[in-house]
Amino acid sequence: MPRRGAFIVIEGLDRSGKSTQAATLLRRLQDAQISAKLIKFPDRTTPIGKMIDSYLRSENELDDHTVHLLFSANRWEFASSIEKSLQSGETIICDRYAFSGLAFSASKIRPGSQSYPLLDYEWCRVPDIGLPAPDITLFLDVSADVARKRGGYGEERYEKEDVQRRVRDVFVRISEHVQGGGGRWEVIDADETQEEVQEVVWKTVQELVAGVDAPLEKLWD
Ligand code: TMP
Ligand code: MG
Repeated sequence: MPRRGAFIVIEGLDRSGKSTQAATLLRRLQDAQISAKLIKFPDRTTPIGKMIDSYLRSENELDDHTVHLLFSANRWEFASSIEKSLQSGETIICDRYAFSGLAFSASKIRPGSQSYPLLDYEWCRVPDIGLPAPDITLFLDVSADVARKRGGYGEERYEKEDVQRRVRDVFVRISEHVQGGGGRWEVIDADETQEEVQEVVWKTVQELVAGVDAPLEKLWD
């Protein structure tokens, strides 16, 4: 049986350098003659993605449950094509996935409260159950100081320091949850230079990009 492609997810806070690292990794894989492609979530090109895009740019207001389910639905739109690519031997680098969905939604707090959650963690996790499971998740961990030095955040809805701090706390919970279920979650120090971070990324995925024998699993199974 030919080996399937590896499903590599890159997660992290805004300004952690995810997209740069994902693009560099893709180039290196292609240079090494490894069949690979890069996808990202949210994918803003579909009708659902367009609703998410206008929400993020604060052009519309949506109920928090609704927007959470839209982010998840946006992943489900691509689930079968992800599976097909992996089975055909193509490696996928995925810039954000269900863990961002869980972290950003479950970190929301009720207006006027300091810490009372708006959406329950388990409620947020359920819609993504059964999606293709990553073979590895690389969490690019950036400190608030370095994020600030990188020019700070943009104008989109969640790009604020207090939001990012709360999101990071949920990512820590998720990492324990994933590892507790036998999944691979690697924390990479993203305060270093682009080149240094890339070297760690490259070394971490080496074995996987040679192809995977293990069957593709389902997320949170
Ligand atoms: P982006 O900057 O990578 O395009 O992501 C847009 C924002 O959407 C970012 O702040 C993270 C957030 N997000 C969610 O809230 N839920 C999700 O499911 C995903 C994938 C991203
Ligand atoms: Mg962004």
